[in-house]
Amino acid sequence: MKAGEDMEKIITSKGLIYEYYTHNDKGEIESKHRALDELNLEIQKGQFVVILGHNGSGKSTLAKHMNAILHPTGGTLLIKGMDVKDQKNLWDIRQTAGMVFQNPDNQIIAAIVEEDVAFGPENLGIEPKEIRKRVDESINAVQMAEYMTHSPNLLSGGQKQRIAIAGVLAMKPECIILDEPTAMLDPVGRKEVLETIYRLNKKENITIIHITHYMEEAIKADRVVVMDRGKIVMDDTPRKIFSQVEKLKELGLDVPQVTELAFYMQKQGINISTEILTIEEMVDEIWQLNSRK
Ligand SMILES: Nc1ncnc2c1ncn2[C@@H]1O[C@H](COP(=O)(O)OP(=O)(O)OP(=O)(O)O)[C@@H](O)[C@H]1O
Ligand SMILES: [Mg+2]
Repeated sequence: MKAGEDMEKIITSKGLIYEYYTHNDKGEIESKHRALDELNLEIQKGQFVVILGHNGSGKSTLAKHMNAILHPTGGTLLIKGMDVKDQKNLWDIRQTAGMVFQNPDNQIIAAIVEEDVAFGPENLGIEPKEIRKRVDESINAVQMAEYMTHSPNLLSGGQKQRIAIAGVLAMKPECIILDEPTAMLDPVGRKEVLETIYRLNKKENITIIHITHYMEEAIKADRVVVMDRGKIVMDDTPRKIFSQVEKLKELGLDVPQVTELAFYMQKQGINISTEILTIEEMVDEIWQLNSRK
């Protein structure tokens, strides 16, 4: 077997096209907008993938295809081999690929945390004993056990997002797609949610597709995919992606602060690598500068 052949693909998109139509009051099509433009993407099981791209580049439209909320106008998107266009796959797809959205308040339905987490499996008709087990495991996995019987209303934004993640986990998905789950959170909440999804990836081997505007959240990813005008324009490790400071800026994106600093130092003629992602790496580089002179 060749290297890579044993890697199971969880998401495969080929020539994926999606067009939004706007209609006038007579119901006629007034205009159309191509949000995904022949997009190709493969994601292997167990990967932690961050998707970046400026506003309107098509990230949410792509995410909604992965959960069969939207259906392609052209091309295909398969989740574990299941075509999202095929209505009969809907429930299998939603169980395989769970989705977490930006606003935690829109995702919590029940008045008690454990009831909220139980909601998904209850809808699947799973027996009560199994539901209890899944609820306990899921709430433990997001480290919210002490809030099991609390009201979600009193939780912080970060805690609410962790409950939303637990609700998805209770469906036993293989993949979780998170569309800017940290956008409405304070720095503490962001850190909690990020640590939670990294832990689920490493410990439970759940494939993570994390859409974000915060470059710092991409540093530890296995892979960073950059979108622009409905296409994938960059796809590499965080280190390779962020060292291309000028290209990212052209695409309307920032880079992590230390990477940008290294870039300007290099421009000033200082012999420093731009493949720097953390403060620790920057400190190491500066220490080594003297010996390189
Ligand atoms: N319901 C809609 N009707 C018409 N056009 C839409 C609709 N939703 C999105 N679009 C357009 O499709 C394009 C892609 O939108 P999308 O929401 O996927 O981008 P995004 O990358 O998620 O942006 P953001 O970073 O702002 O969340 C944009 O140009 C947007 O204006
Ligand atoms: Mg979006």
